[in-house]
Amino acid sequence: EKGGYDWFMRKEIYEQPRAVADTLLGRYDENSRLVLDEIRISENELRSIDKIVIIACGTAFYAGMVAKYAIEHWTRIPCEVELASEFRYRDPIVGPTTLVVAISQSGETADTLMAIRHAQEQKARVLAVCNTNGSTIPREADAVIYTHAGPEIGVASTKGFLTQLVACYLLGLYLAQVRGTKFGDEIAATMAELQAMPAAITEVLEAIEPVLDLAGEFADAPSVLFLGRHVGYPVALEGALKLKELAYIHAEGFAAGELKHGPIALLEEALPVFAVVPPKGRDQLHAKVLSNLQEVRARGARTIVLAEHDDTDVVPYADVLIRLPRVSTLLQPLVATVPLQVFACELATRKGHDVDQPRNLAKSVTVE
Ligand code: F6R
Repeated sequence: EKGGYDWFMRKEIYEQPRAVADTLLGRYDENSRLVLDEIRISENELRSIDKIVIIACGTAFYAGMVAKYAIEHWTRIPCEVELASEFRYRDPIVGPTTLVVAISQSGETADTLMAIRHAQEQKARVLAVCNTNGSTIPREADAVIYTHAGPEIGVASTKGFLTQLVACYLLGLYLAQVRGTKFGDEIAATMAELQAMPAAITEVLEAIEPVLDLAGEFADAPSVLFLGRHVGYPVALEGALKLKELAYIHAEGFAAGELKHGPIALLEEALPVFAVVPPKGRDQLHAKVLSNLQEVRARGARTIVLAEHDDTDVVPYADVLIRLPRVSTLLQPLVATVPLQVFACELATRKGHDVDQPRNLAKSVTVE
């Protein structure tokens, strides 16, 4: 059942290349068209959508944050992301031309379910991104994209998260195809990159040894910070959440640019600070993260830097370097999250915690 692994979580981490491949399976046809048959919302209706609201909780919410960046970039449809538990209590503006995307691994999360019911009362169309066939959320939604990750047993979501990302990328590309905001060859290029992701994730897992050592080194750290920008920001939040729930260590994720607006006061000698460095691109992001890292180092904190394998600029800023395969910025969470999952799993194991059943947590939260 655990396939020779000590924890379901570790098994599920290692299943991610397969899980991501399964999410992609059968969704791109021989005519280079995305086919999301299970979206029972007509193309005409999808063309009339003027706003997307993504609702989710916990890890699924972070997948939604990444999705916002990709969907807005590819479709130019304004997209908001909101915690499901906040959504219906603030009288949100949704209507018949709003597409509400509910992301939920279990499909049973009460906060998310209540939020979609509220959206449906306002006549919004609801699409679920879900892993569990026939669960309540996809049953009540107008449409569903199943992630096909297979059952996730470990309480902390891993393959659930990566496959939610993939499903959201597919949704974004599909909307771009239907609405004509991206040319076919651009969609094809991104699809080719997605198809290469299982191999890229395998590459990360094959080089994971230094992350295991790191867990030994930081087993007694009272607190760990995670920094990222752009789609690296939700990755930072996810890294921190994994550490809190599994290792019971105080951890926080920040948008790296926010550091100077407060959190920089937390920096002190030997504090471990993870940073997700975006690929070098046309924008200034890469340089900005390096300057954030310089601030961190100047205060004696220890930097653990996740960066592209041939990124030599980062070397002076890194106490520890974790190398990632080359992928485009928007897809980087698919590789950057994996070392953070392994770090949390390993640290919790070394502390003697039950990784699959962390204290106070349940796999699906069916109360509001
Ligand atoms: C974190 C975790 C939780 C869930 C959240 C939503 O590792 O597992 O934060 O992501 O409770 O659950 P689903 O996706 O089932 O709605």
